[in-house]
Amino acid sequence: MRVIKVEDYTEMSRRAALHFIDKLSDEKVNVMGLATGGTPQGMYKELIKESKKRRFSFKYIHTVNLDEYVGLRADDPHSYHTYMRRHLFDHIDIPERNVHLPDGTAGNPETECERYEQLIRDLKKVNIQLLGIGENGHIGFNEPGTSFNSRTHVIELTPSTREANARFFSGIEAVPTHAITIGIETIMEAEEIVLLASGKNKSKALYHLICSNKVTEDIPATVLKEHPNLTIIADKEALALID
Ligand code: F6R
Repeated sequence: MRVIKVEDYTEMSRRAALHFIDKLSDEKVNVMGLATGGTPQGMYKELIKESKKRRFSFKYIHTVNLDEYVGLRADDPHSYHTYMRRHLFDHIDIPERNVHLPDGTAGNPETECERYEQLIRDLKKVNIQLLGIGENGHIGFNEPGTSFNSRTHVIELTPSTREANARFFSGIEAVPTHAITIGIETIMEAEEIVLLASGKNKSKALYHLICSNKVTEDIPATVLKEHPNLTIIADKEALALID
């Protein structure tokens, strides 16, 4: 594991964007795993800026998002489909057929999970996976207690996750109760993982990931200790509990 300590959110976003664009410039790299939430918004902004500056084309890149809320249509303003269009896809030249997210309105969510797993298998592998981290240590929407052997599945969101995400909705009651998320085993199969964290509300989760010896399903992110190519880019506040 490599930990890059940066000053603040702005520097985290910039460092992460440069890391991604350098990696994507290698023609063997064409599948990027993406996250949503507050953390990567700055990175996406920088990625758009930097790709324009370098005239980098996303024509041959495929993206696979981590998760989507169950029950939200792709065109719902709160769906992760909409988030991704707003923050990234509408601003780069990636073909629509190359972007992938779980369908939160699939008639049979279990079949949708199988379809999504198959899609990742068809793409061969995720070359570089972007992750945020939940205050309770979740990655993707794999909440505490999720098996390390999990593949894409439907999960019930914990009250704390719904509360943390209520800021994107009109209130906690509007936050869906379930999501489809890529599983932990699926995440661990990515060739490289880049985890971003900013702010002191992430400091406990980062402490468990970086400092404690425990690898436990109670804190899903601790599994990442076992990944052979993990880079953490975090700001001072998020690393406040670590010397
Ligand atoms: C989002 C995701 C989640 C978030 C996590 C942190 O696709 O999978 O794991 O990365 O909930 O969210 P923020 O960045 O809003 O603090």
